[in-house]
Amino acid sequence: MEEFVKVAVTTDLPPGEIMLVEVEDERVVLANVDGQYYAVTDECTHTGCPLSNGELDGAVLECPCHGSEFDVRTGAVVSPPANEPLAQYAVKIEGNDILVGPSD
Ligand code: FES
Repeated sequence: MEEFVKVAVTTDLPPGEIMLVEVEDERVVLANVDGQYYAVTDECTHTGCPLSNGELDGAVLECPCHGSEFDVRTGAVVSPPANEPLAQYAVKIEGNDILVGPSD
């Protein structure tokens, strides 16, 4: 996506939670880590499982399929078998709206 798009409002996503949003045919996981919002692709870089079915622990998102762990703040791999980082999306808060923008 090239522009920021409203995907949710802040009350949809309490701290410690994740949610799946779809923006222009892209599946994106939004995460709230202690009041900071982050967005990464829903597709695990191992074999493509949906990370939105995984578990968030602090800033670490665990894939439900084979247990890869990623830091949602950076997309970096924390634990294998995945070895490629997740694509990240820019996030902007305007009032109560959460907007997702271009990926890195
Ligand atoms: S698909 Fe995510 S760990 Fe294998």
